[in-house]
Amino acid sequence: MPASLLLEPIETASRDELAALQLDRLRWSLSHAYDNSPVYRRKFDETGVHPAELKTLADLSRFPFTTKQDLRDNYPFGLFAVPHERIARIHASSGTTGKPTVVGYTARDIDTWASLVARSIRAAGARPGDKVHVSYGYGLFTGGLGAHYGAERAGLTVIPFGGGQTEKQAQLIQDFCPDIIMVTPSYMLAIADELERQGVNPARCSLRVGIFGAEPWTNDMRRAIEARMGIDAVDIYGLSEVMGPGVASECVETKDGPTIWEDHFYPEIVDPDTGEVLPDGEPGELVLTSLTKEALPIIRYRTRDLTRLLPGSARTMRRMEKITGRCDDMMIVRGVNVFPTQIEALLLGQHALAPHYQIVLTKEGPLDVMTVHVEPRVETACDIAALTTAREALAYDIKALIGVTAVVSVLPVNGIERSVGKARRVIDKRRSGG
Ligand code: DLL
Repeated sequence: MPASLLLEPIETASRDELAALQLDRLRWSLSHAYDNSPVYRRKFDETGVHPAELKTLADLSRFPFTTKQDLRDNYPFGLFAVPHERIARIHASSGTTGKPTVVGYTARDIDTWASLVARSIRAAGARPGDKVHVSYGYGLFTGGLGAHYGAERAGLTVIPFGGGQTEKQAQLIQDFCPDIIMVTPSYMLAIADELERQGVNPARCSLRVGIFGAEPWTNDMRRAIEARMGIDAVDIYGLSEVMGPGVASECVETKDGPTIWEDHFYPEIVDPDTGEVLPDGEPGELVLTSLTKEALPIIRYRTRDLTRLLPGSARTMRRMEKITGRCDDMMIVRGVNVFPTQIEALLLGQHALAPHYQIVLTKEGPLDVMTVHVEPRVETACDIAALTTAREALAYDIKALIGVTAVVSVLPVNGIERSVGKARRVIDKRRSGG
């Protein structure tokens, strides 16, 4: 194997070696934030903590959280901890409301990011000479450029397609024969539909591995994509506030949740309501602290993502369980907490239905109404009996297993909007009275 595809020594280091490195780096990161960012200095002072007080990794819990609101309040560059002339790149995440969150990178941050995405791509099973088709959007979104630099760093051939132009994506996948695709799982399905429309069996195309992330997706969706595309599907996790894609990524040999690249990010799980730190294995909100970031050190960032910390398997570094959803995605329907991923898992059990879905919430008088929009598969589009059975079975499963009554509405093929990036799974019309 060429050097570029070998594991780095830290990937096989012992837990003790890793913990020692983390403590050193954490001390540096806290001091860097305190010394160079007035916002962090004020937050630490208000909480009455000083970086010098960090003696063990557990002492981190005494430091204040950082939230998306902190980035918004200091829009655009207020949290940066280096002078502007050292900022090599800016990214931003659009968010659904309000101002975007803006993040910055020094040249060294970009270098670290590239090496972590390269590590993620190697973990996914890249081989020398592989071609990587990147369908994450390029631009302010971190997906495209993050994947791109990582694939280059891994020594592979990059096809920088970006999002959109689905017909052309499908055509070039046939013509260029990529081995690896990096794309959101929902957009992978749209590309698969398009390949079929062009008369190609997606399982027969050249792709061997898909590296999917940027939105929640279930293990049922993984199995469906693997079967349909004839690939190994692995999960890559990240967020712009902490870096971008490649904060954690799954190893193809185990496919048991993303390994957190703990030499650069320190994870904690907290109770989303109280902020109390929970032991490994307990479900809660993921909180991440950067250990090496220069431009925008991020201390105890509340990701809003719900998961658990699991022991290392293919690597010594800990894993996170596949994300079940964000605190913000949780729908409360007639008092019951529901995540879109729960609906997704049940939908994938209905073979007459396609894996596309969208949930619309409305009000009927005082009562919430949840309508799950689904589509037939092309092969079952005319089979009214099979679709009626599938619709009733899905509504039954949702009631029996999640505990809410849902209206399942079967739209025509292509009736559900296709996103070219992150899918919009929920439309909540309850507050707007619609
Ligand atoms: O989505 C970065 C990224 C790009 C990750 C490409 C993976 C691949 P943001 O736009 O800032 O950054 O959105 C971050 O997306 O807090 C999660 O809620 C969600 N997310 C990202 N990866 C996953 C994943 C990018 N693998 C937000 N599973 C995060 C579930 C994910 N959710």
